[in-house]
Order: sequence, then C-alpha cells, then structure tokens
Amino acid sequence: MLPPLAIAKGVPRNTDVLVVGMSETGVREVPEPVARAFSKRFGVSVGEMATSLGTKASADSKRTLPAAGDGPRIVVVGLESEEPSAEDLRRAAGAGVRHAAGLPGSDNLSVTVSLGSADSDQLAAVAEGALLGSYDYEPISAEPAKGGTVDAITVIHSGDVKGADIATAATTVAQAVVTVRELVNIPANLLYPESFADQVRSLVRGSKITIDVLDEMALSEGGYGGLMAVGGGSFRPPRLVRLSYSPRGARFHLVLVGKGITFDTGGLNLKPGEGMYTMKCDMAGAATVLIAAHAIAELGLKIRVTAYGALAENMPSGSAFRPSDVLTIYGGKTVENGNSDAEGRLVMADALARSNDDHPDLVVDVATLTGACVVALGERTTGLMVTDDATADLVLAAADAAGEDVWQLPIPKEIRSKLDSKVADLRSVTGERWAGALVAAAFLREFVAEGTPWAHLDIAGPAFCDGKPYGYVASGGTGVGVRTLIALARSLAA
Ligand code: BES
Ligand code: MN
Ligand code: ZN
Repeated sequence: MLPPLAIAKGVPRNTDVLVVGMSETGVREVPEPVARAFSKRFGVSVGEMATSLGTKASADSKRTLPAAGDGPRIVVVGLESEEPSAEDLRRAAGAGVRHAAGLPGSDNLSVTVSLGSADSDQLAAVAEGALLGSYDYEPISAEPAKGGTVDAITVIHSGDVKGADIATAATTVAQAVVTVRELVNIPANLLYPESFADQVRSLVRGSKITIDVLDEMALSEGGYGGLMAVGGGSFRPPRLVRLSYSPRGARFHLVLVGKGITFDTGGLNLKPGEGMYTMKCDMAGAATVLIAAHAIAELGLKIRVTAYGALAENMPSGSAFRPSDVLTIYGGKTVENGNSDAEGRLVMADALARSNDDHPDLVVDVATLTGACVVALGERTTGLMVTDDATADLVLAAADAAGEDVWQLPIPKEIRSKLDSKVADLRSVTGERWAGALVAAAFLREFVAEGTPWAHLDIAGPAFCDGKPYGYVASGGTGVGVRTLIALARSLAA
C-alpha cells in the first residue's frame, strides 16, 4: 500500500520531484548536483527563485519550481522554524510529498525529500511524514483502481546513521497509521463488527500476536451487557477482539482498550443528519489500539501488550436498547442507560472491566467518546484524562515524542455523584450539559480496578479530518494516537 522507502546520501538519478525546505533565512539543503544544474539553467539559485515566487517559511507554504533539463522538479515547503522540531520536519515532508503527488502530470512518481536531517530521530520523522503524505483513500469505483501516484520515496541524510534500520522502523510506523486511516475510511456498510474483526485477524496472522474474538453468543454468556445492549439494535452483532503480544524478557504489561462503534446513529436517541454523517469514524479508537499493538509486535519491542477492540454498531430498531434500560456490565456493575447516544462508554465499560482480569501495569484507552471534547479542544487535539500525575507525565511525554497534540483535562471529584442512579449502580450520563468529556471519563474510571494506573484519550476531534488535508494528514481518517501508543511502548519496553 505504501511506496518503498530508501534512505540515501544522494539524489537518485530517476527522481521526478525533489522536496526541500525553506526557513526564514532561505532554502536549505538543496543537494548537489541538482543545485548546480538549476543555477546553470536558470541563472538564479533554487533559493532565489523560491523567494521570488513568494515561498514563505510557514508550514502551509508550498511552491513548485521547474526542472532544469532532465533534472527533477523542485517542491519548496515552508519550515516553521530555523531549527525545526522533528514534528515540523514530519509535517513539511508530508505536505511536500502530497503536493508533489497532486502536480499535473504526476504518475508513478519517484520523490526525493531533502530536509537536512542529520540525527536519527529527525530522519525517522522525515521518513514517516513523507510516507504518510503519500497516502490517499482510493475511491470505491467502477473504474479500475488507480493506485498511488507516488511509487518510490528517498530521504536524503547527511549524518552517520543506520539508514536501513530507520527506514524499516519508519515504514512499520507509517504502515500502522495508514492501516488505521484505511479502516476508518471504509464506509460502515462494508466495515461492521464481524468484518472488522476478520480484517484484524488476517492482519495479525503470521505475527507474534494471538487473537481471540468473542462473538455475540460468547458475549452474552460472558455477561458483556454493554456490548450486547449497544449492539442489539443492529442486524450486525457485536464483537470483542482481544490481541495478546507477550515477548520473552518483557517486564511491563500494557493494556490498550479502544472504542469500536462501526457506525453511531445515536440509537433511539437518534443523531440529526449533519452530526451522523462522519460517524463511520466512531471505531477509530479500536483500530488505533489494535493496529498499534500489531506495530509494537512488528517492531519487536520488549513489552507485553494486550489490546481490546469493543466493536458494535449503534442502530435504532425494534431490538435497540432504550433510555432507562438497566444493563449489567462485565463483572456485575449495573448501569442505567440515560441516552443511547452515550453508547461508547457502555462498550468501553465492558472492555475495561474485562481487562482487569489481565492485571495490567497500565491501562490506556482510546475513544472517539464525546462531542464535548471537540468543543473544548478543537479538531486537532486529543484530550487526556488520568488516574494520577505520573501516568499523565508518561503519556504526555510519549505524545510529545510522537509529535501528536495531547492536552490534559481533569476529572473533578464532584462529578461522580452526578452519575448516581435511583435504579442501578450508576447512570451513563448526568442529565446536564456541562463537562461532557470529563463526565465520560469519570464514568469509565468506575470500571478500572482500584490502584491500576489508567489513561483515557478522547480522540473525537482529531480522529477524522473533515476538511482539507494538512501536513502529513489526509482528509478522512487520520490515524491519530497510533504513534503516541508506539512511543509509549518504546518508553516502557525493557
Ligand atoms: N461518537 C460520539 C462522539 C463524537 C462526536 C465523536 C463528534 C466524533 C465527533 C459519541 O458516541 C456521542 O454521541 N457522544 C454524545 C454523548 C452525550 C449523549 C452524553 C455527545 O458527545 O454528544
Ligand atoms: Mn454516540
Ligand atoms: Zn459514539
């Protein structure tokens, strides 16, 4: 699916497009002999022409310069800073490659990226960004598949690094992100709990991961009342997917839990049309944790990982669960359903409660859980809620290493009593408008064993890009969170 990636010292001869960066002081790192050929042909340097065409140092600035003779066309992308961070480089590489792919007459492109990355972290970031920028969702069409327009990517490095290792790891990471994007983008008539589980099963076949899938019979017998209730309205029954990776020498057990609502209509509390349109993205959390677990295994990290995907379709029908229904979650706690559109927390409750049996050292859940989190933090920032400061530090550091925007929100003490119910152990919603993201977190926390460190990532905003692409992010599913989870596993591995 992704083009092959090479890391090399010089620009390959067959390069069609060369991507370089521009900061305040001008264009940087145009490799020889391209720079010399360009000046000779046009009488000005790449930097002079880029400046006269109005290229800016800001991240959304892109200009295309003509090719000198049979040399490559040159795409100049703005860098945010004189000393760009790894994430600045990742974004610039992604924007440059996507821009190259969109140029007129670009088919089967060979793209070379020279952003001046000497150390291995920066090089890995450029490689990831370039690969991610080449991704676009292929429309489902009567016409034969077009395939990607970028056929090969080369990243130029100047320092003394292990290029092949970096290329392999960056490809594994980018492949994971793109797989999540792909799963999110598949429409919900084609991706439903059973087919989602099947796709995960074929993905992990042949890897060091074992997979268990509970079907509706097993879920019913096992007492998974949240998944059964939410999935009950749909013709397509729910699933609980469990992946386990247990390498020799691992000392830490990380458990991941993801929300996998393959489509969220709101159920009997039906969503209005505009709010429903993008709800095929409501399984992004499950895709994120399952695919991240697979990538962690592919990278061979020495950490035990168990990942759960709680999969169901939330539909209104004669068999749908109702407001005021009382459900028994895995392990026995009862919940009064206050609103069938607050379905995510119910399937997550089952999976979180089940994960206690695994005795994790840390639980991290990922969910497109609340519109309130989008209201609070916007469409590009993930909300983080935790049990304790040490866990917050750990997850924030991982997000920082991955270059993903994560912002911590509190779980105020007073919220818990607002979830008291007259007819069950707790209610799923408070019945007032305030602090929806924090309320959902307070609810989930009730299903995590006392004393287990836990982090909750609400990706309702950044999981899906509703508008134009930016940086290395394409329209549609973004794959947000995957790289943070991989970075977290890297930081915890033995
Ligand atoms: N899947 C939605 C949350 C969502 C909103 C994800 C926007 C992505 C973009 C979730 O199931 C939901 O509907 N939440 C309700 C909760 C409410 C009924 C308490 C919400 O946020 O309105
Ligand atoms: Mn909902
Ligand atoms: Zn939902």
